[in-house]
Amino acid sequence: MAKRPTVLVLNGPNLNLLGTREPGIYGRETLDDIQAACRKHGETLGLAVEFRQTNREDELIGWVQQARGSAAGIVINPAGYSHTSIALLDALLAVGLPTIEVHLSNIFARESFRHHSYVSRAARGVICGLGSQGYRLALTAMSEILQTQTET
Ligand code: DQA
Repeated sequence: MAKRPTVLVLNGPNLNLLGTREPGIYGRETLDDIQAACRKHGETLGLAVEFRQTNREDELIGWVQQARGSAAGIVINPAGYSHTSIALLDALLAVGLPTIEVHLSNIFARESFRHHSYVSRAARGVICGLGSQGYRLALTAMSEILQTQTET
């Protein structure tokens, strides 16, 4: 049987606090709940999901760099680094893997400093405001992107 493509699902700072962090904005689900749902959904799509979280920018960038050669695509919620990190954008551009950016909240309906994401320049698509469903939608979209790549 052919090996399932791996999709790296990366999560930035403070997302480890989901469940208790501003639940009116981010909901009651924990990151473990989201991880379990992503793995399950990945299985139905024939994808292996590698799910990680860090509070450190250098670690996030290291994971993006390592993805070259080990992952087929990246789903990333860069959290606060979306709005600050040119270095993370550069890493994603350097690696060149299909990337989908996810935000639980609708960043455009929030403070103006959240309206701009550096990471979006490297993303095929951006999903925001749909809560944890956004991760599953991103995996579905990634699966289609990867299938189209192998067909061409
Ligand atoms: C977030 C939105 C960001 O503005 C914020 O800094 C986060 C989470 C989201 O998932 O809605 O930490 O990326």
